[in-house]
Amino acid sequence: MDDFTSIREATEKRRTFAIISHPDAGKTTLTEKLLLYSGMIVTAGMVKGRKGRKAATSDWMAMEQERGISITSSAMQFPYKGTIINVLDTPGHEDFSEDTYRTLTAADCAIMVIDASKGVEKQTRKLFEVCRLRKIPVLTLINKMDMPGREPLDLMNEVENVLQIQSYAMNWPLGTGKEFQGVFDRETKEYLFFTKTSFGGAQKAEITRYDASSSICQEKLQPHVYKQLHEELDLLEMAGNAFSKEAFLQGLVTPVFFASALTNFGIEPFFDAFIHLAPCPHARLATLTDGTEIEVDPITTPFSGYVFKLQANMDKRHRDSMAFIRVCSGRFERDLIVKHVRLKKEVRLSRPHSLVAGERTTLDVAYPGDIIGVINPALFAIGDTISVSGGFQFKPLPQFQPEIFAKIYPKDVGKRKGFDKGVLQLIDEGAIQLLKPYPEGNDLLFAAVGQLQFEVMQYRLRDEYGVETIFTPLPYQCSAWVIGDMNHFAKPTNALLVQDRQGRPMALFSSPWEKEYCAKQNPGHQLVDVRV
Ligand code: G4P
Repeated sequence: MDDFTSIREATEKRRTFAIISHPDAGKTTLTEKLLLYSGMIVTAGMVKGRKGRKAATSDWMAMEQERGISITSSAMQFPYKGTIINVLDTPGHEDFSEDTYRTLTAADCAIMVIDASKGVEKQTRKLFEVCRLRKIPVLTLINKMDMPGREPLDLMNEVENVLQIQSYAMNWPLGTGKEFQGVFDRETKEYLFFTKTSFGGAQKAEITRYDASSSICQEKLQPHVYKQLHEELDLLEMAGNAFSKEAFLQGLVTPVFFASALTNFGIEPFFDAFIHLAPCPHARLATLTDGTEIEVDPITTPFSGYVFKLQANMDKRHRDSMAFIRVCSGRFERDLIVKHVRLKKEVRLSRPHSLVAGERTTLDVAYPGDIIGVINPALFAIGDTISVSGGFQFKPLPQFQPEIFAKIYPKDVGKRKGFDKGVLQLIDEGAIQLLKPYPEGNDLLFAAVGQLQFEVMQYRLRDEYGVETIFTPLPYQCSAWVIGDMNHFAKPTNALLVQDRQGRPMALFSSPWEKEYCAKQNPGHQLVDVRV
C-alpha cells in the first residue's frame, strides 16, 4: 500500500465532531452512550450525577479535581462500527469558555442536542452560530423523548425559525413521554420498537424492526398514537423540506432525529446514521505567505495542523502546558520535526498524547481529524500552524464576544511584577482577554466568555505566580466590536467604549436590550459578535 492510500483509508474512517447543547440537554449522557454502543464501556451510568460526577474526560488540573468536572475541552478517540470517532468535548455549564468555541472550530461536524421539553436554548444558539460561521454541518438530536415534552412539529419549527436553517426529520417518534416506544425511519419506512433491558439505560436497548406494511405496528401502538403518527408523517411528506446530503454538508439543512439518550431508545440508529452522514476530514483553507488562499488537501499535503487549545499546568512539577493540535493533513508520527510558521523555526513533537476514553496515552501516529496533545514549553499560541512543508497558515481562529468583565488587581502591590508577567502569559494563551479604554486610557479591564475563565485566571496567578488577587466584577452583560466611523458613533449612556488588544473598538453593554437599542441608533455601524 502506498503512503497516500494508507492516509486516505485512515482519513475516510475518521469522524471528528463536537456535541453542542445547552447545559442539561443530555450531552454527557449521549457521549456515554456512544462509548456504550462502541463497546468502550460495558455499563453506562458512571458519568452521571452532577455532585458525585466523575469527569468524562481529563482531570489533570487540581481545580478540576476539586470541582469534579472537566474544565477544559479535550478529545476522546475510539472505534465505532468501522469508523474512528474523535469526539471533542465542548464544556457547557459554568465551565463554558472561549475554549468551547475554539474547540468547535476543530470539528468537521456537530451534533446539536435539544431537550424536547425546552427547545432551542441560549447556549445552543451561540454554538450553532459558530457552526454556521465555520460552515460546520449540524445533525439535530431531539432528546428526552421519554419525558413529557413539546410537540415534535413545534420543535422542528423552532429549529427552523430560531436558527434559520431548514430541518428534515429523518425519523419520527412512536409516541412521546411515557408512550415513547421507538421511531419510524422515514428512509427505510420501518418501525423501530425498543425494549428496555436494564434500569436507567445501563445496557443497550433491544431493537425490533417492522416493515411499514406490517399490521403488528398498529396493534402495538395506542390508537391515538398511531393516528397522530400517520397524520404527521403525511404532513411531513406533503409540506416538509426535501433532504439532500449535499445541502446538509453545506450547512443548509439539519437532519433531525428523535431519541432518549437515557433509555437508549433511538440512540443506535442515530449513531449509525451519524457515521453515514458526517463528513470525514476534508480540505481546509489556508493562506500562503503572500496572502494567496489555498486549500490544504488532507491526503496529499504532508503533516500539518493547528493549535486550537492550550491547557496549562497539568503537571505541577514541570509547570508545563499542553497544546492541543488538530491534524489537518498527512500522517503524524512521534518525534516528527515540523516547521512552526509563526516563530519561523523547527520544533520536534516529541511527547504526543491522545485521550482514549479519558486515559492519557502516548501516541505514535495520527491522521487527519485526530487531536494530539503535545507538551508545550511556551512554544505555541492559540491558532499557530505547524507543518512539515511550511509556507502556509490556517485560517485564524475567530475571537468571540466576551460577556463578563472585571477589574483584577494584585492584593499586595509588591507583587505587581509577578502579576503583570502572569497576566501577559494568560492573555497570550488566550485564557483571558485584555481590554483598554477607547480611544485611550491606562485602565486595564479583563473580559471573558465564561465565569470559569476568571476563576482559572485567579487560580493560576496564585498557583503559578504566587499572586493573590482582588476581583471586582463590572456591570456589563454583553459586548460587540464596533465597525464604522467612531466619530459618529452614538454610545448609549450606560455603555462603555473600549479597545481590544489589536486596538479595535468595542462597546460593552449593560444589557442585551441596550445592545439592540444601540444597533438601532447606529444604522451606519456594524455591531459584530464574532471577529474573524
Ligand atoms: P449535559 O451533559 O448536557 O449537561 O446533560 P447530562 O447528560 O448530564 O443530562 C442532564 C440530566 O438529564 C441528567 O439527569 C440526565 O440523566 C438526564 N437525561 C439525559 N438524557 C435524558 C433522556 O433522554 N431522558 C431523561 N428522562 N433524562 C435524560 P440529572 O438528574 O441531572 O442527573 P442524574 O443524576 O440523573 O445523572
